[in-house]
Formats: sequence, C-alpha cells, structure tokens
Amino acid sequence: MNYALNDDGHIWAEGVFEKIKFKLEAECSRMEGIIPYIAKNGRYHDIDVPDGIYWWTNGFWPGILWQMYHATKNEEFRKAAEAAEKRLDEALEGWEGLHHDVGFMWLHSAVANYRLTGNRDSCRRGLHAANLLAGRYNPAGKFIRAWNGDCTGWIIIDCLMNIPLLYWASEELHDPRFAYIAQNHADTALKVLVRPDGSCNHIAVLSPETGECLETPGGQGYAPGSSWSRGQAWAVYGFALSFRHTGRKEYLDAAKSVAHYAVSNIALNGWLPLVDFRAPARPVKYDSTAAMITSCGLLEIVCHVGEYEKSFYTAVALNLLRSGERAFADWNTETDGIIGKGTGSYHGGPDDTEVSIIYGDYFFVEAILRLLEKDFLIW
Ligand code: GLY
Repeated sequence: MNYALNDDGHIWAEGVFEKIKFKLEAECSRMEGIIPYIAKNGRYHDIDVPDGIYWWTNGFWPGILWQMYHATKNEEFRKAAEAAEKRLDEALEGWEGLHHDVGFMWLHSAVANYRLTGNRDSCRRGLHAANLLAGRYNPAGKFIRAWNGDCTGWIIIDCLMNIPLLYWASEELHDPRFAYIAQNHADTALKVLVRPDGSCNHIAVLSPETGECLETPGGQGYAPGSSWSRGQAWAVYGFALSFRHTGRKEYLDAAKSVAHYAVSNIALNGWLPLVDFRAPARPVKYDSTAAMITSCGLLEIVCHVGEYEKSFYTAVALNLLRSGERAFADWNTETDGIIGKGTGSYHGGPDDTEVSIIYGDYFFVEAILRLLEKDFLIW
C-alpha cells in the first residue's frame, strides 16, 4: 500500500471514482472520435486551436481513457483511446509542428497502449517520439530546447514531464543514451529554474553556445520573478518522477522543496491555487490544474518516502483534491469537463481563463486512481 489513506479519505475517493466513471462513460459515448481541449458552454469540440493535431494537450484524452480502461476494463474506453492514438500519427508524420511536449502526446497514447496491451505499433510510435525529443537536446548547454522558431536557448520547467519518455526509451531499448539526456536536462533545470526558496522560474533563456543563463522571463506566469502555480506543479511532479527513474536524491529533495513552497501558498488561499503565487491581489484568477498536478506529484513523493512522511504528503494531496473537487467539479453527465477553473496562462484571454481544461481532468483522474491503487504509471 503506497498511500497512507485513512478510512474517511478512502470512502471519499471511492465515491468520486463512481462519479468519474459515470461522467466519462457519458463523455466517451458522445465524443465520436474528437480530441478535446477546453469545454466551451459545456461541450468539447475537436482540437479547435491553431496548432491543430500538433497541440501539446492532444494526448491527455487518450491518457484519461487508458487510465479508465485499466481501472474498469470497459472496452469503450480502449477503443476510443486507440482511435485518438491513430489520429496523432498525422503529427508524428508531419513532424514540423512538433515540439518538446511529445512526451505528453505519446506517453499518454501510444506508450500507455504498449504498456497495457503490448501493441508493437504503439511501441514504435513511442520510440519515434522519444527520438524526436532526444533530437532537441543541446549538448553544449545540456538541456532540451523548448518550442520552435528562435527559442534556441530556452529551457522550461514543464519539460520535466516530457523526459519520462526518454527514461522509458532507455529501458525499452536497453540503451542509456536517452536517460543521459533526461538526467542532464533535469540537472540543468535544477540549476537554472529552481530558486533557492523553492519557487521556480517558468523559463530560462540560455546561451545555446555555452549554456550560460542570460534571462528568466515570466512565461505563463505574471512577470519575471513571480511564481506560476502550474510551473511549480510541473516541478514537484517532474522532479519526483526523475527520482523514480534515476534514484538520485537531489531530485526528490527538489520535488519536496518546491512542494513545500507551493503547498504553503495554496493552503493560505483556502487550498485553492491562484494562477500565480506572486501576482497582485486583484484580479483573483484560479488555476485548478495546478492543484491536480501538484496532488499527483505529492502522491509520487509518497511512493519514495518513509512512513511518517507518507502520512504527511498523502494528507496534503487529499486536502488539495477534496477542496478542488468541492470548488470546481461538475458532475453533470450532460456536460463535458469535470474540473472547472483551469487557466492556461496568467495573461491569457477569457477563452483560456478559469475554464475546464482536459489536463486538469487527466491529473484529477490520475490522482483519484492513485489513491485507490487503480492507476498504472503512465510516466
Ligand atoms: N506545458 C504548457 C502548460 O503548462 O501550459
């Protein structure tokens, strides 16, 4: 038993799992092959973003479906996940629109399929994506570059969540090259993105020739030096996962230190995360996705600590999940999206602010399944 869940927490999580099942069965039956992102007026639409099939969130729906297939054995979830994976081939073949987020796209689709069914085509898709990610590595600066265009020296905190694709490829191919890249990237992220007080930069601009840190822009947070809550969440979960794959204690220490910083900020705000912990008091803008990702990160930490720490991190994750569910969940089976009030970025427009975003749901589902030990590790 990984998690120190008390009876009350267990009963709550079981109840939520039943509601998740009803909601996702209903969503799945009306989805008809679409790949959802943000629910608008209670309805998902097919990838309605300029980046289309390349959009970084396109793996989260199949990720939800594979988690639910694993937990329930409902064949409808499996069929819908396979259909989404096939659609993503257009991105794999098109290549030009791809970016550092290929981990989010193929760990949750093809690699999840391969892990659960042994499908060799899916394995090949995952290895193809891993090679694309490794190809973005800058050996002089020891980092995986973010985005495309002129961001040649950009490293971002989110990318910690893509490098499990590289750890997986090394394991699968019995070839350590991919894991070396992942570790070098995590080391550079630790050096240039995590601040001494446990908060994080979203972005660091490095010299692509020498790796020297030139600038740390505000990115999706409020401003340079502020603290974007989802960025802190990526750090908690990302470093905890790098610890799982490498056993290097500095990653677990980093995950804990960012977690302590982030959770104290969220706790002071009624256990509901604002988009940025260092933004003006007004306007108030929530980002529920930060709570869901942080919860999964805390539950990952629980897998690697002793008895007393297990109780602590489980209790904190449970607080985040219960408060988030109470404040943000929509259990109406007629509408799409479970967790509302997710925000893409601090300065985004109304379409991107306090809305129901697919990855908020993915991490909520993963966290609940983790608590009930019905999940499988997608990372
Ligand atoms: N990975 C991009 C984001 O968190 O919005």
